[in-house]
Amino acid sequence: MNSVRRTILAATAIALVAGPALAKGPAIKSINWDSVPAAKVTLFYPGQTSMEWILTGTDHGGVRAFKKGDRCFECHSEEAADMGAKMVSGKKAEAAPIPGKRPAFPFSVKAAYDADNLYMRFEFPAAPRGASPKQDAENEMKLAMMIDQGKVDMAARAGCWVTCHSDARDMPTAPAGKQVTKYVPESRTQFDIAKRDNWDKLKPAAELDALLKSGTTLDLVRFKSSGAAEQGYVLAERVLKPATDVTFAGEKKGDTWVVTMARKLKASAPGEVTLEAGKAYTVGFAVHDDFATGRFHHVSLDMRLGLGTDGEIKAVKQ
Ligand code: HEC
Repeated sequence: MNSVRRTILAATAIALVAGPALAKGPAIKSINWDSVPAAKVTLFYPGQTSMEWILTGTDHGGVRAFKKGDRCFECHSEEAADMGAKMVSGKKAEAAPIPGKRPAFPFSVKAAYDADNLYMRFEFPAAPRGASPKQDAENEMKLAMMIDQGKVDMAARAGCWVTCHSDARDMPTAPAGKQVTKYVPESRTQFDIAKRDNWDKLKPAAELDALLKSGTTLDLVRFKSSGAAEQGYVLAERVLKPATDVTFAGEKKGDTWVVTMARKLKASAPGEVTLEAGKAYTVGFAVHDDFATGRFHHVSLDMRLGLGTDGEIKAVKQ
């Protein structure tokens, strides 16, 4: 039992100490979180279920309904923990199971907003230290959120999966010696779900530029338990830089992580989403626990985050 109270300073405070050239992110306003309802999300271990896997009938039982317009969430929200158990054990879509890794865990999400910022609070059980080596020794935990702005095909129904591909690092058709990260299918000249070799079929730079300007991306923010906050987007690859528009603070209280966030509603860089009150956005969450990296994370299904409007996560006006 870990009774040590470990406090991690707000990421921007550390960034300011590290380099005064970095701009300051928004302040994390003190919110009466007790008055905000929590969305109970399950994060589960997804194994190697790429978007190509999802779209192939012999791999995935839900492909027809998904293609007709159903969301992953509609079929799977009640059974996410059972799904995680299949992949984490190596019974399905996982070539390298990690002994002792959790199949799934509860992830409580609260959200609020004001005229300038979106605020979120995440709470979830910390993983016990497993027997496998630390993949990222500097970060016991990383928390990421992707936000869809409605331009990437299938993202509104599939959330993060649309960026997860069979040819990415540590995935089944990863090219030897190449570190392929996340990408959206629009960034490639082909999206062949049978051959699963789309990683190097990049569109020309001018076309990628146009996609970036049109917002055909997923917005990405990330907190590392070492204190860093990052922001960026996914288009042809994962692009992350030190955060200026988002602030995170994370604390492990006993066996529970509590992470809070403030993110400017207005985007200041291309590829990032400007959030508007009265609208709902598809979001997805990922947690790397127990010093994990790459695909060895736990993820949510596609969730709807409504700012003052309906969604599985309802951000309350402050
Ligand atoms: C029509 C409902 C439906 C939709 C929509 C759907 N699925 Fe499935 N999914 C299934 C069925 C059926 C299975 C096979 C379950 C089994 O073999 O017992 C499955 C299996 C899976 C599995 C393997 C774990 C398991 O329990 O077998 C994963 C992971 C998965 N789906 C993810 C997704 C994701 C991600 C999406 C959206 C991109 C999605 N599914 C959309 C019905 C659906």
